[in-house]
Amino acid sequence: MELYKAINIRRTVRDFENESISTEVLEKIIEAAFKAPTNDHMRDWHFIIVRDKHVTAKLLDIIPKGISDDDMEALIKDWNLNDSIQQECYRNAVPKQYRMLFDASAIIIPLLKQKTDILHPDNISHLNGFASIWCSIENIFLSATAEGYGCNLRIPLGNEAEYARNILNFPDYYFMPCFIGIGKPKSNAVSVKQKEINIKERIHWNKF
Ligand SMILES: Cc1cc2nc3c(=O)[nH]c(=O)nc-3n(C[C@H](O)[C@H](O)[C@H](O)COP(=O)(O)O)c2cc1C
Repeated sequence: MELYKAINIRRTVRDFENESISTEVLEKIIEAAFKAPTNDHMRDWHFIIVRDKHVTAKLLDIIPKGISDDDMEALIKDWNLNDSIQQECYRNAVPKQYRMLFDASAIIIPLLKQKTDILHPDNISHLNGFASIWCSIENIFLSATAEGYGCNLRIPLGNEAEYARNILNFPDYYFMPCFIGIGKPKSNAVSVKQKEINIKERIHWNKF
């Protein structure tokens, strides 16, 4: 698939077909992840791929299974989500946090080596490893799209990352930035409209 096409059709997918994904495709996608730019040239990343549904169930057990309509509306108010498209996105996404991962054909857990406290960096370069792995995550999303798959992601809340560490047994010097669900999008998968951006208003030639 042509690069710009993959960029343009990639969308967050939270509704998946009940289909498996081959080792070959997953390896191809992770190979693309390792082509991303990296801060220190080392690409000291690992990717745990969970396809065993027993492990999936254990891993996700800590994630809330849904949210009532009233709680959803309270959350939209609390978080000051005033934009109607943004509200639509959250109304679709929040109730699906568990299912979008459980129904995925595989869950990918990226891991980066983090030598300093990521929540209290002394300077911006202490976040370089974190920034680099996000470059690799975008490569995963684009290559999955090019292969006819879709991805979603969840930022671990509360102690979800520590819980995942115990279930998946990754060392304490590796940091997990997110959960990624990957699978075949359902034909009626919800795709919340992207905000329209007038790029002419966002590009500033020579000065802001
Ligand atoms: C840093 C980051 C954090 C995100 N966190 C979540 C999340 O916790 N749960 C979720 O369902 N989607 C999450 N998303 C996906 C966004 O909701 C999604 O990318 C956004 O609404 C734009 O939609 P699109 O990807 O279909 O263009 C996150 C995306 C990014 C880049």
